[in-house]
Amino acid sequence: THQWRGIIEEYRDRLPVSDTTPVVTLREGGTPLVPAQVLSERTGCEVHLKVEGANPTGSFKDRGMTMAITRAKEEGAQAVICASTGNTSASAAAYAVRAGMVCAVLVPQGKIALGKMGQALVHGAKILQVDGNFDDCLTLARGLSDNYPVALVNSVNPVRIEGQKTAAFEIVDMLGDAPDIHVLPVGNAGNITAYWKGYQEYAADGIATRAPRMWGFQASGSAPIVRGEVVKDPSTIATAIRIGNPASWQYALAARDESGGVIDEVTDREILRAYRLLASQEGVFVEPASAASVAGLLKAAEQGKVDPGQRIVCTVTGNGLKDPDWAVAGAPQPVTVPVDSAAAAERLGLV
Ligand code: F0G
Repeated sequence: THQWRGIIEEYRDRLPVSDTTPVVTLREGGTPLVPAQVLSERTGCEVHLKVEGANPTGSFKDRGMTMAITRAKEEGAQAVICASTGNTSASAAAYAVRAGMVCAVLVPQGKIALGKMGQALVHGAKILQVDGNFDDCLTLARGLSDNYPVALVNSVNPVRIEGQKTAAFEIVDMLGDAPDIHVLPVGNAGNITAYWKGYQEYAADGIATRAPRMWGFQASGSAPIVRGEVVKDPSTIATAIRIGNPASWQYALAARDESGGVIDEVTDREILRAYRLLASQEGVFVEPASAASVAGLLKAAEQGKVDPGQRIVCTVTGNGLKDPDWAVAGAPQPVTVPVDSAAAAERLGLV
């Protein structure tokens, strides 16, 4: 019997590990690449979804975290720390358990989804809610890791990017070449940096004939890269990407410019529309931030900016169960029936 071994074993020769590296893994990666029928029809393209919510802790962060915690373990660290809008902290907490390390997380008070908080709690992380936003949390985490014996596992740690680049490898391995366009949400901008690195490596080694154009989308209330300036008080319902000063800003610009891509914004309304379309028409339940990629693709298509016939991959970054409030909000309350098949049949419109 064989199962996917996790990104470090599957892509060992492309990652900074040695034969003696103590690999810390939950068998992350190997996520589904799902053909998106409705999105393909709407755009006249061949659209696929890279469903990263299928990772062990429910987001793409696990790809970077297996590398970051493995490296921390190799260096003898006993504690790790991160700032997070929720998913990084959930992932760090789980991988720290595997490694037998203490995990400290700093989150913006009141601005992380309940499911993610639950994950960090149940994995036993030490959680501080900071009276500030994600950018403040990251500043604090950096300072603490500079001055105390605790390793920083945010994506400013370059091994995180190394792990996350494997998603691009998987896509090329599945499709046989790179897509024409790759679309993804942008928050702290680590992931767009990582995908671009992965695609470039495969192209340089002739495994792909080209690299795709990179299309990144920020939420309108948190769109510093689009605006060209730091957003002091970022806002969006997509709390995962509520970030005003992305750490990998310059790398995101490089990915955009070197690939001939774009970084644009989508409103919360556009995000929620894409969120509902993904769930109700593609059968894929993602968290709101994840829907920013699809919202961006639909926006571009409506503006006539998507030439038909292209192959497009949208990364959907996190599982919908992390933040189910948005699924329930505005939906009709299910009706209650007695234990009676005639009544149930009538309510279901079967008669
Ligand atoms: N989608 C989700 C679900 C995320 O959690 C994040 C980032 C992003 C997209 C954006 O990715 O930051 O690499 O541009 N979440 C981080 C966190 C900030 O703390 O979990 P990015």
